[in-house]
Amino acid sequence: MTEAHRPTIAIFPGSFDPMTTGHRDIISRAARLFDRLVVAILVNPEKAPLFSVPERVALLREVLAEWPTVEVDTFGGLLVDYAQRRGAAAVVRGLRALSDFEYEMQMALMNRRLSPRLETVFMMPAETYSYVSSRLVKEVFALGGSITGLVPEVVEARLRERRQA
Ligand code: PNS
Repeated sequence: MTEAHRPTIAIFPGSFDPMTTGHRDIISRAARLFDRLVVAILVNPEKAPLFSVPERVALLREVLAEWPTVEVDTFGGLLVDYAQRRGAAAVVRGLRALSDFEYEMQMALMNRRLSPRLETVFMMPAETYSYVSSRLVKEVFALGGSITGLVPEVVEARLRERRQA
């Protein structure tokens, strides 16, 4: 395949614990920009997650089944090494508010230092999701609040099953 026809692959990395409607919004936008989008779940053995990695993979696959060019995978180690293995040209990150910017810029510049040809592309979610984060969803759910609309329906159903178990 010539350079001009090589599909542009992007990675959307994260913890996705749990996946939120904000993540889904960014994925739907990025899927329109890139030929292939790999949603990559970080395997982080130090964290005590809400959902195990296989559970997160299954939930993401179910939610993302409608987008044929979107794939779900897992990775460990450096993101830049994973991106290189996957032949990715870009990393996609969502930017919700100014408060995200500092951390995201540090990561983007560090990744650029490690892998100069890998670009980070920031995308803004719809305003409706600008305050939604996995951390707050977890907290609200743990304290008995409603998370309807903050996570995809299958994720909410799974969390409800947990509460009843
Ligand atoms: O959803 P998160 O937790 O904000 O995602 C953070 C993530 C997974 C993108 C970041 O922690 C990461 O890329 N980790 C992999 C290890 C790595 O490459 N660290 C150096 C980043 S500058």
